[in-house]
Amino acid sequence: MSNRKVLVTGGAGYIGSHTAVELINAGYEVIIVDNLSNSDRSSLAGIAAITGVTPTFVEADCCDREAMERLFAEHDFQSVIHFAAFKAVGESVAEPLKYYQNNIGSLVNILDLMRRYERRNIVFSSSATVYGDADVLPVTERTPRKPATSPYGNTKQMAEDILRDSVAAVEHLNGIALRYFNPIGAHPSALIGELPRGVPNNLVPYITQTAAGVRECLSIFGDDYPTPDGSCLRDYIDIVDLARAHVVAIDRMVEGRNKEAFEIFNVGTGRPVSVFELVHGFEEANNLKLNYKVAPRRAGDVTAVWADTTLANEELGWRAERELTDTLRSAWAWECHVRNIKQ
Ligand code: UFG
Repeated sequence: MSNRKVLVTGGAGYIGSHTAVELINAGYEVIIVDNLSNSDRSSLAGIAAITGVTPTFVEADCCDREAMERLFAEHDFQSVIHFAAFKAVGESVAEPLKYYQNNIGSLVNILDLMRRYERRNIVFSSSATVYGDADVLPVTERTPRKPATSPYGNTKQMAEDILRDSVAAVEHLNGIALRYFNPIGAHPSALIGELPRGVPNNLVPYITQTAAGVRECLSIFGDDYPTPDGSCLRDYIDIVDLARAHVVAIDRMVEGRNKEAFEIFNVGTGRPVSVFELVHGFEEANNLKLNYKVAPRRAGDVTAVWADTTLANEELGWRAERELTDTLRSAWAWECHVRNIKQ
Protein backbone atom coordinates (compact mmCIF):
# COMPACT_ATOMS: atom_id res chain seq x y z
CA MET A 1 0.00 0.00 0.00
CA SER A 2 1.33 3.43 -0.86
CA ASN A 3 1.52 6.09 1.83
CA ARG A 4 2.11 8.69 -0.92
CA LYS A 5 -1.25 8.06 -2.60
CA VAL A 6 -4.46 9.79 -1.53
CA LEU A 7 -8.02 9.21 -2.70
CA VAL A 8 -9.80 12.57 -2.85
CA THR A 9 -13.59 12.20 -3.02
CA GLY A 10 -15.26 15.28 -4.45
CA GLY A 11 -11.86 16.27 -5.81
CA ALA A 12 -13.34 18.15 -8.77
CA GLY A 13 -15.20 20.49 -6.42
CA TYR A 14 -14.20 23.77 -4.86
CA ILE A 15 -12.28 22.64 -1.78
CA GLY A 16 -11.33 19.30 -3.31
CA SER A 17 -9.62 20.78 -6.37
CA HIS A 18 -7.54 23.21 -4.29
CA THR A 19 -6.57 20.38 -1.96
CA ALA A 20 -5.58 18.18 -4.90
CA VAL A 21 -3.19 20.93 -6.03
CA GLU A 22 -1.59 21.23 -2.58
CA LEU A 23 -1.29 17.44 -2.24
CA ILE A 24 0.43 17.18 -5.62
CA ASN A 25 2.73 20.09 -4.70
CA ALA A 26 3.62 18.19 -1.51
CA GLY A 27 4.56 15.09 -3.50
CA TYR A 28 1.42 13.00 -3.12
CA GLU A 29 -0.21 11.10 -5.96
CA VAL A 30 -3.88 12.01 -6.16
CA ILE A 31 -6.79 9.87 -7.29
CA ILE A 32 -10.00 11.84 -7.65
CA VAL A 33 -13.46 10.32 -7.49
CA ASP A 34 -16.36 12.65 -8.22
CA ASN A 35 -19.84 12.24 -9.69
CA LEU A 36 -19.71 15.81 -11.06
CA SER A 37 -23.11 16.54 -9.49
CA ASN A 38 -21.92 19.93 -8.27
CA SER A 39 -18.58 20.28 -10.03
CA ASP A 40 -17.07 20.45 -13.45
CA ARG A 41 -14.45 18.50 -15.37
CA SER A 42 -12.73 21.79 -16.15
CA SER A 43 -11.30 21.83 -12.62
CA LEU A 44 -9.23 18.76 -13.55
CA ALA A 45 -7.64 20.74 -16.38
CA GLY A 46 -7.03 23.56 -13.91
CA ILE A 47 -5.26 21.21 -11.51
CA ALA A 48 -3.12 19.92 -14.38
CA ALA A 49 -2.30 23.43 -15.59
CA ILE A 50 -1.17 24.52 -12.11
CA THR A 51 0.79 21.43 -11.12
CA GLY A 52 1.83 19.89 -14.44
CA VAL A 53 0.26 16.65 -13.23
CA THR A 54 -3.08 15.25 -14.34
CA PRO A 55 -4.59 13.36 -11.43
CA THR A 56 -6.24 10.01 -12.04
CA PHE A 57 -9.96 10.69 -12.35
CA VAL A 58 -12.80 8.24 -11.77
CA GLU A 59 -16.32 9.45 -12.43
CA ALA A 60 -18.42 7.70 -9.82
CA ASP A 61 -20.79 8.32 -6.96
CA CYS A 62 -19.37 7.53 -3.52
CA CYS A 63 -22.70 5.89 -2.64
CA ASP A 64 -22.24 3.42 -5.53
CA ARG A 65 -20.88 0.39 -3.68
CA GLU A 66 -19.72 -1.53 -6.73
CA ALA A 67 -17.94 1.40 -8.35
CA MET A 68 -16.23 2.28 -5.07
CA GLU A 69 -15.25 -1.32 -4.44
CA ARG A 70 -13.59 -1.43 -7.87
CA LEU A 71 -11.75 1.77 -7.02
CA PHE A 72 -10.41 0.34 -3.77
CA ALA A 73 -9.44 -2.91 -5.49
CA GLU A 74 -7.57 -1.11 -8.27
CA HIS A 75 -5.72 1.62 -6.33
CA ASP A 76 -3.46 1.16 -3.33
CA PHE A 77 -3.89 4.58 -1.64
CA GLN A 78 -3.32 4.53 2.10
CA SER A 79 -5.30 7.71 2.81
CA VAL A 80 -8.65 9.22 1.89
CA ILE A 81 -9.89 12.80 2.04
CA HIS A 82 -13.67 12.72 1.94
CA PHE A 83 -15.14 15.96 0.56
CA ALA A 84 -17.98 14.57 -1.55
CA ALA A 85 -21.23 15.79 -0.02
CA PHE A 86 -24.22 18.04 -0.57
CA LYS A 87 -23.90 21.38 1.19
CA ALA A 88 -26.90 23.64 0.60
CA VAL A 89 -28.50 24.35 3.98
CA GLY A 90 -31.91 25.45 2.58
CA GLU A 91 -32.17 22.51 0.19
CA SER A 92 -31.43 20.13 3.06
CA VAL A 93 -34.47 21.45 4.94
CA ALA A 94 -36.69 20.83 1.90
CA GLU A 95 -35.16 17.45 1.01
CA PRO A 96 -33.69 15.95 4.18
CA LEU A 97 -33.54 12.36 2.93
CA LYS A 98 -31.46 13.41 -0.05
CA TYR A 99 -28.91 14.75 2.44
CA TYR A 100 -28.98 11.79 4.82
CA GLN A 101 -28.75 9.31 1.97
CA ASN A 102 -25.88 11.05 0.19
CA ASN A 103 -23.82 12.53 3.00
CA ILE A 104 -24.18 9.65 5.44
CA GLY A 105 -24.42 6.88 2.85
CA SER A 106 -21.17 7.86 1.16
CA LEU A 107 -19.26 8.08 4.45
CA VAL A 108 -20.51 4.70 5.66
CA ASN A 109 -19.59 3.17 2.31
CA ILE A 110 -16.08 4.61 2.40
CA LEU A 111 -15.43 3.65 6.01
CA ASP A 112 -16.61 0.11 5.34
CA LEU A 113 -14.26 -0.16 2.35
CA MET A 114 -11.39 1.33 4.35
CA ARG A 115 -11.96 -1.29 7.02
CA ARG A 116 -12.09 -4.17 4.57
CA TYR A 117 -9.20 -2.99 2.38
CA GLU A 118 -7.11 -1.97 5.41
CA ARG A 119 -6.69 1.67 4.44
CA ARG A 120 -5.34 3.72 7.31
CA ASN A 121 -6.12 7.43 7.26
CA ILE A 122 -9.15 9.57 6.59
CA VAL A 123 -9.69 13.31 6.71
CA PHE A 124 -13.32 14.34 6.89
CA SER A 125 -14.81 17.71 5.87
CA SER A 126 -16.72 18.90 8.88
CA SER A 127 -18.02 22.38 9.48
CA ALA A 128 -18.26 25.15 12.02
CA THR A 129 -21.99 24.63 11.62
CA VAL A 130 -21.67 21.95 14.35
CA TYR A 131 -21.19 24.76 16.93
CA GLY A 132 -24.50 26.46 16.05
CA ASP A 133 -25.14 29.64 18.04
CA ALA A 134 -22.28 29.16 20.49
CA ASP A 135 -22.52 30.64 23.99
CA VAL A 136 -18.83 31.54 24.18
CA LEU A 137 -16.68 32.87 21.33
CA PRO A 138 -14.28 32.08 19.81
CA VAL A 139 -15.15 28.39 19.69
CA THR A 140 -12.58 25.75 20.58
CA GLU A 141 -12.80 22.10 19.63
CA ARG A 142 -14.08 21.50 23.17
CA THR A 143 -16.96 23.93 22.82
CA PRO A 144 -20.12 21.82 23.10
CA ARG A 145 -21.90 21.23 19.81
CA LYS A 146 -25.41 22.66 19.63
CA PRO A 147 -28.35 20.69 18.20
CA ALA A 148 -28.18 21.06 14.44
CA THR A 149 -30.56 23.57 12.90
CA SER A 150 -30.69 21.89 9.49
CA PRO A 151 -30.43 18.36 8.10
CA TYR A 152 -27.20 19.47 6.43
CA GLY A 153 -25.74 20.48 9.79
CA ASN A 154 -27.02 17.26 11.28
CA THR A 155 -25.18 15.20 8.64
CA LYS A 156 -21.93 16.90 9.71
CA GLN A 157 -22.53 16.08 13.38
CA MET A 158 -23.61 12.53 12.61
CA ALA A 159 -20.64 12.03 10.32
CA GLU A 160 -18.20 13.15 13.03
CA ASP A 161 -19.78 10.60 15.38
CA ILE A 162 -19.75 7.82 12.79
CA LEU A 163 -16.09 8.53 12.13
CA ARG A 164 -15.20 8.59 15.84
CA ASP A 165 -16.98 5.27 16.44
CA SER A 166 -15.44 3.62 13.38
CA VAL A 167 -11.94 4.71 14.29
CA ALA A 168 -12.48 3.35 17.81
CA ALA A 169 -13.60 0.00 16.45
CA VAL A 170 -11.08 -0.55 13.66
CA GLU A 171 -7.53 -0.95 14.84
CA HIS A 172 -5.73 0.24 11.72
CA LEU A 173 -7.93 3.32 11.17
CA ASN A 174 -7.04 6.97 11.98
CA GLY A 175 -9.32 9.92 11.38
CA ILE A 176 -9.15 13.69 11.49
CA ALA A 177 -12.26 15.86 11.20
CA LEU A 178 -11.50 19.38 10.05
CA ARG A 179 -14.14 21.89 11.03
CA TYR A 180 -14.11 24.51 8.28
CA PHE A 181 -15.22 28.02 8.97
CA ASN A 182 -16.09 30.05 5.84
CA PRO A 183 -13.85 29.09 2.91
CA ILE A 184 -13.48 31.85 0.31
CA GLY A 185 -11.26 32.93 -2.57
CA ALA A 186 -9.51 31.03 -5.30
CA HIS A 187 -6.08 29.77 -6.32
CA PRO A 188 -3.75 32.73 -7.07
CA SER A 189 -3.39 31.47 -10.65
CA ALA A 190 -7.17 31.96 -11.14
CA LEU A 191 -7.19 28.57 -12.88
CA ILE A 192 -9.43 26.92 -10.29
CA GLY A 193 -12.08 28.36 -8.00
CA GLU A 194 -15.66 28.04 -6.85
CA LEU A 195 -18.27 27.28 -9.52
CA PRO A 196 -21.68 27.61 -7.87
CA ARG A 197 -24.64 26.38 -9.90
CA GLY A 198 -27.56 28.79 -10.14
CA VAL A 199 -28.00 31.56 -7.60
CA PRO A 200 -25.17 31.42 -5.06
CA ASN A 201 -26.10 30.80 -1.41
CA ASN A 202 -22.82 32.06 -0.03
CA LEU A 203 -21.65 35.60 0.40
CA VAL A 204 -18.46 35.80 -1.66
CA PRO A 205 -19.77 34.16 -4.85
CA TYR A 206 -22.79 36.46 -4.61
CA ILE A 207 -20.46 39.44 -4.28
CA THR A 208 -18.29 38.46 -7.25
CA GLN A 209 -21.33 37.72 -9.43
CA THR A 210 -22.82 41.09 -8.50
CA ALA A 211 -19.55 42.81 -9.37
CA ALA A 212 -19.58 40.94 -12.69
CA GLY A 213 -23.13 42.10 -13.42
CA VAL A 214 -24.61 38.60 -13.28
CA ARG A 215 -26.64 39.58 -10.19
CA GLU A 216 -28.19 42.99 -9.88
CA CYS A 217 -27.71 43.69 -6.20
CA LEU A 218 -26.25 41.98 -3.16
CA SER A 219 -28.63 41.67 -0.20
CA ILE A 220 -26.98 42.02 3.18
CA PHE A 221 -29.04 39.80 5.42
CA GLY A 222 -29.59 41.89 8.52
CA ASP A 223 -27.98 45.01 9.98
CA ASP A 224 -29.61 44.76 13.41
CA TYR A 225 -27.58 41.94 14.94
CA PRO A 226 -25.88 42.62 18.29
CA THR A 227 -22.47 43.14 16.63
CA PRO A 228 -20.39 46.33 16.23
CA ASP A 229 -21.86 47.22 12.81
CA GLY A 230 -25.08 45.18 13.07
CA SER A 231 -24.13 42.54 10.48
CA CYS A 232 -23.13 38.93 11.21
CA LEU A 233 -19.56 37.95 12.08
CA ARG A 234 -17.81 35.02 10.41
CA ASP A 235 -14.30 33.62 10.12
CA TYR A 236 -13.40 33.73 6.41
CA ILE A 237 -10.60 31.31 5.60
CA ASP A 238 -8.63 31.44 2.37
CA ILE A 239 -9.18 28.36 0.23
CA VAL A 240 -5.46 27.68 -0.29
CA ASP A 241 -4.79 27.93 3.44
CA LEU A 242 -7.69 25.55 4.01
CA ALA A 243 -6.36 23.16 1.36
CA ARG A 244 -2.94 23.13 3.06
CA ALA A 245 -4.56 22.11 6.36
CA HIS A 246 -5.58 18.86 4.65
CA VAL A 247 -2.03 18.13 3.55
CA VAL A 248 -0.77 18.73 7.07
CA ALA A 249 -3.49 16.46 8.49
CA ILE A 250 -2.55 13.67 6.05
CA ASP A 251 1.19 14.13 6.79
CA ARG A 252 0.43 13.87 10.50
CA MET A 253 -1.34 10.52 10.18
CA VAL A 254 1.01 9.09 7.53
CA GLU A 255 3.97 9.90 9.80
CA GLY A 256 2.17 8.55 12.86
CA ARG A 257 2.33 11.87 14.70
CA ASN A 258 -1.36 11.97 15.62
CA LYS A 259 -1.89 11.85 19.39
CA GLU A 260 -5.27 10.14 19.19
CA ALA A 261 -6.70 7.85 16.54
CA PHE A 262 -9.52 10.37 16.08
CA GLU A 263 -8.84 14.10 16.24
CA ILE A 264 -10.78 17.28 15.50
CA PHE A 265 -9.34 20.64 14.46
CA ASN A 266 -10.86 24.02 13.76
CA VAL A 267 -9.70 25.45 10.46
CA GLY A 268 -10.18 29.20 10.50
CA THR A 269 -8.20 32.39 10.90
CA GLY A 270 -9.32 33.23 14.43
CA ARG A 271 -10.49 36.63 13.21
CA PRO A 272 -14.15 37.71 13.07
CA VAL A 273 -15.12 39.77 10.02
CA SER A 274 -18.56 41.34 9.52
CA VAL A 275 -20.56 41.22 6.29
CA PHE A 276 -20.10 44.98 5.85
CA GLU A 277 -16.34 44.66 6.42
CA LEU A 278 -16.14 41.92 3.85
CA VAL A 279 -18.13 43.88 1.28
CA HIS A 280 -16.05 47.03 1.77
CA GLY A 281 -12.86 44.96 1.84
CA PHE A 282 -13.83 43.50 -1.53
CA GLU A 283 -14.50 46.98 -2.97
CA GLU A 284 -11.15 48.30 -1.77
CA ALA A 285 -9.11 45.26 -2.72
CA ASN A 286 -10.45 45.36 -6.28
CA ASN A 287 -11.01 49.06 -6.66
CA LEU A 288 -14.67 48.82 -7.59
CA LYS A 289 -18.10 49.67 -6.20
CA LEU A 290 -20.64 47.04 -5.35
CA ASN A 291 -24.38 47.44 -5.64
CA TYR A 292 -25.82 46.31 -2.29
CA LYS A 293 -28.78 46.86 0.01
CA VAL A 294 -29.74 45.84 3.49
CA ALA A 295 -32.36 43.08 3.55
CA PRO A 296 -34.12 41.19 6.37
CA ARG A 297 -32.22 38.58 8.33
CA ARG A 298 -31.87 35.15 6.70
CA ALA A 299 -33.56 32.31 8.59
CA GLY A 300 -31.12 30.06 10.42
CA ASP A 301 -28.12 32.43 10.43
CA VAL A 302 -26.14 32.61 13.67
CA THR A 303 -25.05 36.05 14.84
CA ALA A 304 -21.38 35.25 15.12
CA VAL A 305 -18.94 32.38 14.92
CA TRP A 306 -15.17 32.39 14.70
CA ALA A 307 -12.44 29.94 15.55
CA ASP A 308 -10.00 29.57 18.34
CA THR A 309 -7.17 28.15 16.23
CA THR A 310 -4.74 27.34 19.04
CA LEU A 311 -5.03 23.59 18.62
CA ALA A 312 -4.47 23.67 14.85
CA ASN A 313 -1.58 26.12 15.29
CA GLU A 314 0.16 24.11 18.00
CA GLU A 315 -0.73 20.52 17.19
CA LEU A 316 -1.00 20.53 13.41
CA GLY A 317 1.62 23.24 13.01
CA TRP A 318 -0.75 24.96 10.60
CA ARG A 319 -1.98 28.53 10.47
CA ALA A 320 -3.84 30.71 7.99
CA GLU A 321 -1.34 32.90 6.16
CA ARG A 322 -3.00 34.71 3.29
CA GLU A 323 -4.18 38.29 3.86
CA LEU A 324 -7.91 38.88 3.42
CA THR A 325 -7.21 41.52 0.75
CA ASP A 326 -5.30 39.00 -1.35
CA THR A 327 -8.03 36.42 -0.87
CA LEU A 328 -10.68 38.91 -2.04
CA ARG A 329 -8.52 39.79 -5.06
CA SER A 330 -8.24 36.11 -5.91
CA ALA A 331 -12.03 35.71 -5.69
CA TRP A 332 -12.52 38.53 -8.20
CA ALA A 333 -9.71 37.31 -10.48
CA TRP A 334 -11.42 33.92 -10.65
CA GLU A 335 -14.84 35.43 -11.42
CA CYS A 336 -13.19 37.47 -14.21
CA HIS A 337 -11.56 34.31 -15.55
CA VAL A 338 -14.90 32.46 -15.57
CA ARG A 339 -16.78 35.36 -17.22
CA ASN A 340 -14.01 36.41 -19.60
CA ILE A 341 -13.88 39.85 -18.01
CA LYS A 342 -10.72 41.94 -18.50
CA GLN A 343 -9.55 43.18 -15.11
N1 UFG B 1 -24.89 36.80 3.49
C1 UFG B 1 -25.48 37.96 3.02
N2 UFG B 1 -25.92 37.97 1.72
C2 UFG B 1 -25.80 36.90 0.89
C3 UFG B 1 -25.20 35.71 1.38
C4 UFG B 1 -24.76 35.70 2.70
O1 UFG B 1 -25.59 38.94 3.74
O2 UFG B 1 -26.24 36.97 -0.26
C5 UFG B 1 -24.39 36.79 4.87
C6 UFG B 1 -25.04 35.73 5.73
O3 UFG B 1 -26.23 36.22 6.31
C7 UFG B 1 -23.94 35.45 6.74
C8 UFG B 1 -22.64 35.68 5.95
O4 UFG B 1 -23.02 36.47 4.82
O5 UFG B 1 -24.01 36.39 7.77
C9 UFG B 1 -22.00 34.41 5.46
O6 UFG B 1 -22.96 33.64 4.78
P1 UFG B 1 -22.57 32.37 3.90
O7 UFG B 1 -23.82 31.82 3.33
O8 UFG B 1 -21.47 32.70 2.96
O9 UFG B 1 -21.96 31.37 4.98
P2 UFG B 1 -22.61 30.79 6.31
O10 UFG B 1 -21.79 31.27 7.44
O11 UFG B 1 -24.06 30.99 6.38
O12 UFG B 1 -22.44 29.22 6.03
C10 UFG B 1 -21.19 28.65 5.87
C11 UFG B 1 -21.30 27.46 4.94
C12 UFG B 1 -22.19 26.42 5.50
C13 UFG B 1 -21.77 26.07 6.87
C14 UFG B 1 -21.63 27.29 7.73
C15 UFG B 1 -21.00 26.94 9.03
O13 UFG B 1 -21.79 27.88 3.69
O14 UFG B 1 -22.11 25.28 4.70
O15 UFG B 1 -20.77 28.23 7.11
O16 UFG B 1 -20.83 28.03 9.84
F1 UFG B 1 -22.68 25.26 7.45
